[in-house]
Formats: sequence, C-alpha cells, structure tokens
Amino acid sequence: MAFDIEMIEKVYATMAARVDKARELVGRPLTLSEKILYSHLWEGMPSQAFTRGKDYVDFAPDRVACQDATAQMALLQFMHAGKSKVAVPTTVHCDHLIQAKVGAKTDLAVANTQSKEVFDFLSSVSNKYGIGFWKPGSGIIHQIVLENYAFPGGMMIGTDSHTVNAGGLGMLAIGVGGADAVDVMSGMSWELKFPKLIGVKLTGKLNGWTAPKDVILKVADILTVKGGTGAIVEYFGEGATSMSCTGKGTICNMGAEIGATTSTFGYDDSMRRYLAATGRQDVVNAADKVASYLTADAEVYANPADYFDQLIEINLSELEPHINGPFTPDRGTPVSKMKEEAIANGWPLKVEWGLIGSCTNSSYEDMARAASIVEQAVAHGITPKAEFGINPGSEQIRYTIERDGIIATFEKMGTKVFTNACGPCIGQWDRTGADKGEKNTIVHSFNRNFSKRADGNPNTHAFVTSPEMVAALAIAGDLSFNPITDTLLNDKGEAVKLNPPSGDELPKRGFDVEDAGYQAPAADGSSVEVVVSPTSDRLQLLAPFEPWDGKNYTGAKLLIKAFGKCTTDHISMAGPWLRFRGHLDNISNNMLIGAENAFNGKANSVKNQLTGAYDEVPKVQRAYKAAGIPSIVVGDHNYGEGSSREHAAMEPRFLGVKAVLVKSFARIHETNLKKQGMLALTFANEADYDKIQEDDTINFLDLTEFAPGKPLTLEFVHADGSKDIIKANHTYNEGQIGWFVAGSALNLIAAGKA
Ligand code: F3S
Repeated sequence: MAFDIEMIEKVYATMAARVDKARELVGRPLTLSEKILYSHLWEGMPSQAFTRGKDYVDFAPDRVACQDATAQMALLQFMHAGKSKVAVPTTVHCDHLIQAKVGAKTDLAVANTQSKEVFDFLSSVSNKYGIGFWKPGSGIIHQIVLENYAFPGGMMIGTDSHTVNAGGLGMLAIGVGGADAVDVMSGMSWELKFPKLIGVKLTGKLNGWTAPKDVILKVADILTVKGGTGAIVEYFGEGATSMSCTGKGTICNMGAEIGATTSTFGYDDSMRRYLAATGRQDVVNAADKVASYLTADAEVYANPADYFDQLIEINLSELEPHINGPFTPDRGTPVSKMKEEAIANGWPLKVEWGLIGSCTNSSYEDMARAASIVEQAVAHGITPKAEFGINPGSEQIRYTIERDGIIATFEKMGTKVFTNACGPCIGQWDRTGADKGEKNTIVHSFNRNFSKRADGNPNTHAFVTSPEMVAALAIAGDLSFNPITDTLLNDKGEAVKLNPPSGDELPKRGFDVEDAGYQAPAADGSSVEVVVSPTSDRLQLLAPFEPWDGKNYTGAKLLIKAFGKCTTDHISMAGPWLRFRGHLDNISNNMLIGAENAFNGKANSVKNQLTGAYDEVPKVQRAYKAAGIPSIVVGDHNYGEGSSREHAAMEPRFLGVKAVLVKSFARIHETNLKKQGMLALTFANEADYDKIQEDDTINFLDLTEFAPGKPLTLEFVHADGSKDIIKANHTYNEGQIGWFVAGSALNLIAAGKA
C-alpha cells in the first residue's frame, strides 16, 4: 500500500518555482488554493492570470481514487484506452456494495457472495493495470486515502463526491465522474473551471462538547447546500491550527454538502503528527522543506478580505454543538435551541438509533471521544435508550480501537459494529421495520441526511451531529437532550450530568493492523486475465463505439422532446439501477425513463414512429436501433444537470442516438456527450424548440463540414411534408471534433492520437 514518496517529492521539487512564477503572474500574494492550482497546471504558466469562476483550465492531478460503484464503468472504459498501466497512482476501494444488517462478519460474507463477480472484476483489472486494490472490508475510500495517500499541497480526483475529505491533509481533492478519472488514468489532462475562493477564518479554540463537526455544520447553516458551488473553501486562523488533522478531514468532507468544489487547510503541526502516526515521516520531511508553499502567503491571512471572494469568520470558543436536519444538512440548530425547534416542527423527539463512523467521522479521536461518553453512562448505571451502531472507516481504525478497548466500551451498550464500509450512509442498511414507513428520528455523524438516504424510509428524520453528540443523544434517547445543561436518570433514579467528551487525538500506542485488506498490483500485469462472464447481468465488457462514417445523418427519428427539467437522474436513474452500473446494455433500459415527453406530459411514454404506438423510451430506441435508423433527442434548458455520471451519455450513444439538441446544457454532461462521440447541440434560436413535432424526421445538411465555431444545419421534416430548417450551435474545438470522428475520446486515446 506504500504511498508514493517519489511522486510526492517530484511534486515538491517543482512547486517552489511554479508558485513563485504564479505569484509574479497574478501580481499579489497567493492563497494556498491558488498555489496548489497553479502548481498543477497541465501546461506551463499562461500569459495572464486565470479569472476565477470563468476560465476553464487543464490540470494534472497527482492521484486518482475510485469506489466500487463508480469504478466499474470507469475501469471498463479504461480497458479501451490501450494502456498497459495507469498514468498516475490510482486506487480502487470496495466500500459501497456492502450492506449493514447483522454485524461486520456476517454482512461482509454476504456481500462477498452477492457482489463476488464485481469485486473479482475490480481486483483483476486493478492487478493488471497497476492499480492499488482495497478489498471489501478494508475500509471506506476517503478514510483510507487520508491514512495512506493524501499529502499537503497535492491534487487528486476521485469518483466520489466526498473525495474532498483529503483536504484535511492540505490537498485539493475533488470529486469527479468516471469519464474524468479515465482521462487522467490514461495520461490526459483534467479540466476544471478555475474556482472562486471562500475563506473561513477560525478564531478561538474548540472546547467542551464542541467538535470539528460543528464547524462545518455551522458553515453549512451559513452557506446552505448551494453556497459553495464553484468555489474552494480555504480554512485558516488559530482555530484551524489548533484542531486535529482528522477533524480538518471531517470539515473538508462535508464541504460536499455545501456544493463546494473542495476545501482545504494549510500545512501545520496537526498534519505532521498525523502523517508521522500513519507511517509517513518521509512525507513530513519532504513537506517541511517546502512548508511555506504549503500554506497561503502571510499577507493573505492577515488581510483575507482582499484575497477571497467571500469571507466567513467563526469564533470556535463561542461555537455551540449543532444538530443539522432533518432531511437536509444545512438546516442547523444549536443544541440549546433543539427542544423548541423540534416541538415547533413536530419532529419525533424519541431517538431510535445513533450511528457513528462513515468516511466523515471515524477517526481515532472521534471514536475515543464518543466512547468517553458511553463509558460515563455505563459507570453511572444509565441504560441507553436508543440502539447504537458504528461503521468504522478502515480496518486500521477498527483494529486499533479494538486493541485499545474502545470497541469493548461501545459493546457495553449493545453497539452493533458493522463492516468497515459505507453501510447506512449510502442506504445500504437493512434496518428492521424500515419498510413500515413510520415517522421516527435517528441521529448520525455522517454527512448526508436526505430523505430515505439511510434506511429507505421517507419518514425517518435523520439528524447530523458530532460522534460525541450522537452518543449522548442515543443514550438519552431524546433529541431535545442538551448534555451541557441537562441530566439523565440512572438505574437508582439519581440525576447524572455527563462530563464533556475527552479522547486522544491519536493512539498512544500507535496505529496497528493485522491485515489492512490491500492488494498491490502485479509489477507486470500483461499476463493477468480480466474475467467477465458473458452471461453476467452486472458486468459487460465494452465494445468500442463505431467511428463516424463521414456522411450526413439522414432519416433520423425524433426519440423524445423532453420538457422542463431533465437531470442526469431523469436520463439515467439511480436507486435499483445502481446494480447495473457495470453493464451498459442492462443499465440502458433506464435511458430517459424519467424525462417528461413534451407531447403527452408523461414520463417513459413516447411514440414509436415505426408503429405509431406509444411505448417506453428505451424500447422505442431499441426498435430504431434494430431497424438501423438514427435518432435524436431534443431537450430544454440546463439539460443533464445533476451528477457527472457518464452513463447518462453512454446509454444514448450505445442505443444509437446520434445527437442531443437542447436549449442549453449542463456543462459536464455536454462534455460527457462529446467524449462518447455524440453530437451535443444547442438551438441557435431557442424558439425553434417549439417547431419540433412528434413525428419529425431529421436530416443533417452540413455535418460533413463540421468545424469549430460553425453552426450545423438540420432539416426537420414534419408529418404533413412541411419542413423547418433549424440552426444548431456547438462548442466543439478541433480536438473534440476528433473525438466525434473517431467514435469517442477513448477511441482516439487507444489509437495513440490523443
Ligand atoms: Fe461512503 Fe457515505 Fe462516505 S457513502 S463514501 S461513507 S459519504
């Protein structure tokens, strides 16, 4: 599992010169975020500084990490890139496909049976292409990255939105879709709009019941779930340096909940301590040599308002523990106000479950502090009222807290220890009775609390808080319990006041583990065979998409004119379809089933122009494909907003849709369509959307002259024989036209031309 010190030293070797040049270019002191961004440019320094929130920039990330649900399609695509090895250090982590039900041992065994072929596939592809593979049970991707791979000043991408967790170690770590990961693994650049910068100045010091989690719960309350969009959040100040590295990880982790591109902290002693404790003194030694480049220039933090687009200040000495929710992580309530809020809003006061762990809060410090509350309750003879569960972030954490008696403490209150995996955090929780749909309250230390997220029950009111508060609320069994002021009754009927939590930041005896669950890739993977059963319904090897035949598309049918919102969820639904993320043919049966047909107002009901009958969208498209007839999709504004999942572009491509013509695109989806060799077009005149009729046949008139900046001309032939000529704009550059011509960006990479 060895971290790549050579790669890290290489990054540091060029960092000083690049940052110095960037400072000259920008003409002022630099924030930490800018230092990392400018030192990871794909090409050399530009001639002028980038404009935040405007310029698209190509970057060269140092690492890639993928989780098991998203890695399947990413690796299936990578196999087509024609490379013998990944271009940058990459890891795959099996954490999403494990259900929490009985307890770690049984649940893991069940997952290993149910998802065996997926795990075997990921293991063999990783082995073949030089990818580090973390087996089921090894832990959650972001905890493992923090423990093993994150480093100050680095840049990484990961196919999971909470990749941002690694900001706790001073990285810029960003969640992306599988297609972006494939590009970087294949040796290509990665594009990002140069982010805006939000500064968060932390003064004072955490104390009493307040934990790092409360910082991000407060920030989420201030910024809301959209407030960080397109921005990097940079934390600084005495309050930042005084908290643990893993606490910083928690804060960065939940940056995803405010929509931030990522979050980060400057290099400090807490990071030195954590790196040393996790066996990476080499990284400390290397980082110390360039320490001034791993934090902002002093002037920035002295006058932050001059350097950040937005500035927030939080005094940690005055910060109260927060409980955020229900149903959204930005609804923050200080613990002292919870009683009145809960009563006013009719939230069930009885707490049924307390859950701690996940990628957000499963550090040694988190576990130790929560255990200190349990220990007190047990010592005072207080019977816990709610059930309690833990999903440790990694085997290293689990092993160490077991060795140090922390798990034994939790077990004194009947805690269920689930597998080191996402479990309840991603809805992989087979909670007894959840199917009854009863209104109830749970508290957890995870990050997301949207309806149905944990147990599938839309009436479960999930509240997010710190692990120590979860412990207190679960013991009290009461959402309105305020441990700072309230008492609990013990078995003798005496009133007991709990002391504030305490716990070591790092284990005194160091971390330990017997089998971390890591599989190193073969030094030479050329003879490793990747096995995918042709009869599998979960995995399917991809065939390269056909290149363009150089002719105008003619006789194309309108598949659907989508009306209104059409997100990637409308185009490729999640939920039960998650199971088919590695099988393009099967998952294509969800193509556009959520989109509203503009002609009948229904979802998943379009006219089959060959029969005149209405049928499901994928079925109609399969009929066109079988008949060798091309088709196009028409859409409204911001088509493809939502996630960056590449399935939303691969499915129409696979089923034979040639073009998507819309009023406007969500940018990532537009790029994904281009990468898969589709035509992503926008109406030159938005009003032309209204001219599209249900029985239209479409002819492209000048696709043979496809060129950057030149609109395309489409002829729409209506059922009565009348025609409309419609101009369609596009944003393809020369390289992207090359993707279209080759059939996909991957085809071009495989041909060695990208
Ligand atoms: Fe897993 Fe939940 Fe984190 S799904 S990666 S533990 S946010």
